[in-house]
Amino acid sequence: MLPLAISNLAGPTEWRWKTWSGKGIRKMGTAPYHDRDGFIWYDGALVPWREAKLHVLSHGLHYASAVFEGERAYAGRIFKLTEHSQRLAASAETLGFALPCSVDDVDRACDEVLRANSITDGYVRPIAWRGSEMMGVSAQASRIHLAIAAWNWGSYFSEEARQKGIRMCTSAWRRPSPQCAPVHAKATGLYMICTLSKHNAEAAGYHDALMLDWRGQVAEATGANIFVAMPDGRLHTPTPDCFLDGITRRTVIGLARSRGIEVVERAIMPDELRDAREVFLTGTAAEVTPVGEIDSYRFVPGEVTRLLTEDYQLATGQRQAQTVAA
Ligand SMILES: Cc1ncc(COP(=O)(O)O)c(C=O)c1O
Repeated sequence: MLPLAISNLAGPTEWRWKTWSGKGIRKMGTAPYHDRDGFIWYDGALVPWREAKLHVLSHGLHYASAVFEGERAYAGRIFKLTEHSQRLAASAETLGFALPCSVDDVDRACDEVLRANSITDGYVRPIAWRGSEMMGVSAQASRIHLAIAAWNWGSYFSEEARQKGIRMCTSAWRRPSPQCAPVHAKATGLYMICTLSKHNAEAAGYHDALMLDWRGQVAEATGANIFVAMPDGRLHTPTPDCFLDGITRRTVIGLARSRGIEVVERAIMPDELRDAREVFLTGTAAEVTPVGEIDSYRFVPGEVTRLLTEDYQLATGQRQAQTVAA
């Protein structure tokens, strides 16, 4: 059977492909996410992993009334945990609902999930959604649910891809304007165009897609922000006026500035990438990922990317200062 489309190039442990017969997905490597050992925090209590279910008539599933977070734990500590929990609460508020508990409670629950699953270095996924009390566009009285899962997880892109820099192509799908969608919320509905873009990029042999915004300006990747080191010695990054102002993005801007690298947030047109010295992505999942190509433009991961990768590893606790110096 020939591969039709490789999905999830990101996770070397999770290659899957559809077969020509179209009769399903063959899995290699790890178990599917619904069928694992461990515990998931669900509406206030830890439940066995396989029992963390929701009803098929949940509003969140039908109308994308759901918000989520993606967090990483390093050496048992969730990096920027409270910022993530605050963003989760802010995203919920943008969608017109309140989380069923406080930001402090979300912090505590995330830590509890990590410990219950004995994870020291891994990924944490809180998600809040409208339940099944009402079925229709309006769902004012639906109960709000909150679940938090965590699992061991390595690099988002393979080590080989990271070494050379990942390969990207520009997506036909664009980030919508703030008048068309709640662009600053980490809301599940906004990921529809990300999945479409990523699938198209993967089907064409790329690791990820560059998404432009509705004006045709460079916006971000499908799950990460973008930075461009220009010949003027400055680091340029698009102004986050219609996409997520990533927690990693803000961290890396701070790290760059403490190194004396000037960071410019501005509108970047795609043809400016021609002059770029280095390009990299930032995100909780992607961390700092070098980019080797976008369409016909080629970049070589260099000093700026290396320094900020190391600084980010220090900031997250992946490395100690002596390791970097050595
Ligand atoms: C679309 C998108 N942009 C940017 C980011 C980066 O955000 P953060 O650094 O907060 O993980 C993410 C990841 O959450 C994302 O999904």
